[in-house]
Amino acid sequence: MQIIRDIATLHRAIAALKQDGKSVALVPTMGALHDGHLSLVQMGRRVADHVVVSIFVNPTQFGPNEDFAAYPRHEARDAALLVEEGVALLWAPDVGVMYPGGHSTHIEVAELGADYCGAARPGHFDGVATVVAKLFNQVRPDVAIFGEKDWQQLAIIRRMARDLDFALDILGAPIARDPDGLALSSRNAYLSPEQRSAAVAFPGALRTAAAALANGSDMYETLAKAEAAIVAGGFDSVDYIALADADSLERLDIFRAPARLLAAARIGKTRLIDNYPVG
Ligand code: PAJ
Repeated sequence: MQIIRDIATLHRAIAALKQDGKSVALVPTMGALHDGHLSLVQMGRRVADHVVVSIFVNPTQFGPNEDFAAYPRHEARDAALLVEEGVALLWAPDVGVMYPGGHSTHIEVAELGADYCGAARPGHFDGVATVVAKLFNQVRPDVAIFGEKDWQQLAIIRRMARDLDFALDILGAPIARDPDGLALSSRNAYLSPEQRSAAVAFPGALRTAAAALANGSDMYETLAKAEAAIVAGGFDSVDYIALADADSLERLDIFRAPARLLAAARIGKTRLIDNYPVG
């Protein structure tokens, strides 16, 4: 596996991979890889001839009081995992390569980015959309793969690719979970053993609520019950819990397919997100 950190070398390496009409799948990540990331790589191997993974902890998607400096960085370990998965190329630029002095353009996916995580994290999705657009232009993949774990992010990237005519397919990969149901996340590493055992209340309450909503239970009552269960389970607060149209992310008062239950909750200093299909 080649590890590349500058754009000129990247372009040469991508051209070599694409020789003879071979296809390339891109899996963008911020590293600290876990089985959720690796399931995206495995999907990439199934749908394309070569998989390119990017690792870049993107400063522009972190708020001033967020965990950019503390975000886990384990590049050597990540690279070893990617070699085992048969990845062709690891694109791991420094901040100065991604954002040279004078960088001043950004992408805002207005409506989809305003609610949910966008409301709690102003500017977050502008940072995500901008870096993902740059990664698409740098790597020029035939297909890019994102996890359903970040449902709003996936919806925003699909919309951006459509709106800006990026010539590639966007694929969503199912959420990888620990056996007790907690969605895998690089941020789970922040949880103390007590918090990690309590965290199971989050997916549990969402699963129960998603089933109740699909069976016609009252939306406000069901979401209030789920929020109470999450707090009773040991979380400090629920940032949001909402029933949304799965594609437009519009808030729904009454269940209609396709719908998704979206939520974010805080336990200590850690903010976790999760979502479930409804119906
Ligand atoms: P990161 O949090 O590292 O996630 C990289 C990709 O892995 C995302 O598409 C995310 O949805 C997916 N992923 C994470 N946990 C998952 C799980 N448990 N199951 C399935 N997929 C999972 O998301 C980002 O990085 C960044 O915002 C990025 C898109 C790279 C832009 O900087």
